[in-house]
Amino acid sequence: MSILVTGGAGFIGSHLIERLLERDGESIVCLDNFNDYYDPACKRRNVAGFIDHERVTLIEEDFCNAEAMRQLFDERNVRIVVHLGAYAGVFRSVVEPLMYQENNVGGTLSLLEAARHHPVERFLLASSSTVYGRGAAIPFQEDAPLGIPMSPYGASKRAAELMGLTYHGLHGTPVVCLRPFSVYGPRVRPDLAMAIFVEAIETGRPLPLYGDGSIRRDFTHVRDICSGLLSAMTADGVEGEAINLGHNDPIEIRKVIEIVEDALGKKANIDQQPEKPGDMPVTYADLTKAKRLLGYQPEVPFAEGVAEYVAWFRDQLREP
Ligand SMILES: NC(=O)c1ccc[n+]([C@@H]2O[C@H](COP(=O)([O-])OP(=O)(O)OC[C@H]3O[C@@H](n4cnc5c(N)ncnc54)[C@H](O)[C@@H]3O)[C@@H](O)[C@H]2O)c1
Repeated sequence: MSILVTGGAGFIGSHLIERLLERDGESIVCLDNFNDYYDPACKRRNVAGFIDHERVTLIEEDFCNAEAMRQLFDERNVRIVVHLGAYAGVFRSVVEPLMYQENNVGGTLSLLEAARHHPVERFLLASSSTVYGRGAAIPFQEDAPLGIPMSPYGASKRAAELMGLTYHGLHGTPVVCLRPFSVYGPRVRPDLAMAIFVEAIETGRPLPLYGDGSIRRDFTHVRDICSGLLSAMTADGVEGEAINLGHNDPIEIRKVIEIVEDALGKKANIDQQPEKPGDMPVTYADLTKAKRLLGYQPEVPFAEGVAEYVAWFRDQLREP
């Protein structure tokens, strides 16, 4: 029996595998195609710490390959799926929507099909706060009207959720949709704000600020996200549900820059840019449902998480 983590070489996936290895348990299949959405060398570094572990098998494959997924589920006797693999950036989806549709929707369907032929005990589907869109009430509640997504990425995640929930209704596939909010922490994706801000301020390079910095994000530490995922693997009463994994404390981007400046002891060299299409004005998770169903409670205060990330970033710079 094994736990399949798709996107296991990515930012969140690699943290989740480390957390799974801290516990006794079954073997883990880390599935990733090391695509070049960002430098695959980062992904190789992400897995370096666990790739030789006796409980981990790395499989380099594309989960859009439905036949390969069916074989994998049989051969590895997959019991739990944590589907984190995706194209995950908002802005690129505005420019290249087709690959989001193929990978995030088609790829999810390929895995759901494998789960239909080799029934699993749980199928966690990583959705996103971007499924909330124009018209959604704030803070975002899972079971209130979601509004219209503001990017093809958000729409692809909503479509993947709907496919998962359809499989749950039709075939009893034990799907749980988790909606992470602006995740950060060591090994954060290089295209995300935290990575860009820290790198720019540390090196003195221009920091691109889109709009006036008043947009708010519910930044959530990767440790808290992993705690939510681990709970969702075993919790009762969660199948067929969508659940927020956020911080319930949105913060303005200009305030984020100040906190990063304080942590680095340096000032940002702001490069003012127009607002970006697809950018949501605010993300804000209501956590009532996550607390009730998962006992979820974010524990990492934002300033502490930023200081930890800065220390990690500086360690990386010192590495040969
Ligand atoms: N990071 C965030 O702030 C955030 C917020 C909300 C939701 N999410 C979701 O969480 C998940 C993980 O995000 P992340 O930030 O770790 O992203 P990431 O890009 O670091 O990780 C995704 C991994 O999936 C792999 N992958 C993509 N397509 C694949 C395919 N067809 N076959 C095999 N592997 C494939 C990539 O190579 C990558 O390593 C994604 O589903 C993302 O949409 C992330």
